[in-house]
Amino acid sequence: MSEEKLRQEITDICHLVYRKGYVASTDGNVSVRLYDGNVMCTPTRCNKGFVKPSDLVVIDMHGNKVRGERKQSSEMAMHLQIYRMRPEIQAVVHAHPAAATAFAAAGLPLNKALISEVVLAVGCIPLAQYGTPGTPELTEELRPYISGHDALLMSNHGVVTYGKTLEDAFNLMDTVEHFAKISIYTKILGRERLLSPDDVEKLWVQRQKYFGLDESEAQRKDPLCPMTDGVSETISLTRGELIDLIERVVSNIK
Ligand code: 13P
Repeated sequence: MSEEKLRQEITDICHLVYRKGYVASTDGNVSVRLYDGNVMCTPTRCNKGFVKPSDLVVIDMHGNKVRGERKQSSEMAMHLQIYRMRPEIQAVVHAHPAAATAFAAAGLPLNKALISEVVLAVGCIPLAQYGTPGTPELTEELRPYISGHDALLMSNHGVVTYGKTLEDAFNLMDTVEHFAKISIYTKILGRERLLSPDDVEKLWVQRQKYFGLDESEAQRKDPLCPMTDGVSETISLTRGELIDLIERVVSNIK
């Protein structure tokens, strides 16, 4: 894809990230790897709802600006670390979607096998420890998780996702946020019925077929973030319990 088309694609994804409410104000940053080995990224302190193709900045793999009027995002060390460790990755999206960031602020990973499509798409979403934004501290905390995952929660900060295309990276952000909302709803309901280890195993096999992954990619499992699966819990509620649960959900959603 030409640089011009990539500029437009980054801009479109930034507008989408903003419209979906995954960032507020000047939060977040987006980048793609260019064919010449450089990286094109959003400028620092720019609202993703209003960014234009001409605002984007090109940097080299050491973080030096190659071209562009504005200053590059302050989070480029994190993006470059991901590109260095994962040569197949072409795009990185960092945002602060409210539900997933709430997990990151509560100190909770999204590691429960609750929804088949989430296990299939992303598996466990680990929580990296806190590091000051824009400093090597943050990059160091993410490092242990980058090889084993395509989506990470960053403690007290936000989410970073990455993929072979910009759309893949955005889709993961969308999945993480949707899953975080569902996880919060199950907490409001007061019950979680986890998929069994056997079901999770079958999903890993499906994952390989669905995404056309080679075996090493499909079987990538990280001992730092094991998926919590379990034996199905039988749910049988009385009419009164059911009404009470619905009232709690409705009052929490309002
Ligand atoms: P930049 O404006 O420098 O990209 O930083 C935004 C952000 O979200 C930091 O985490």
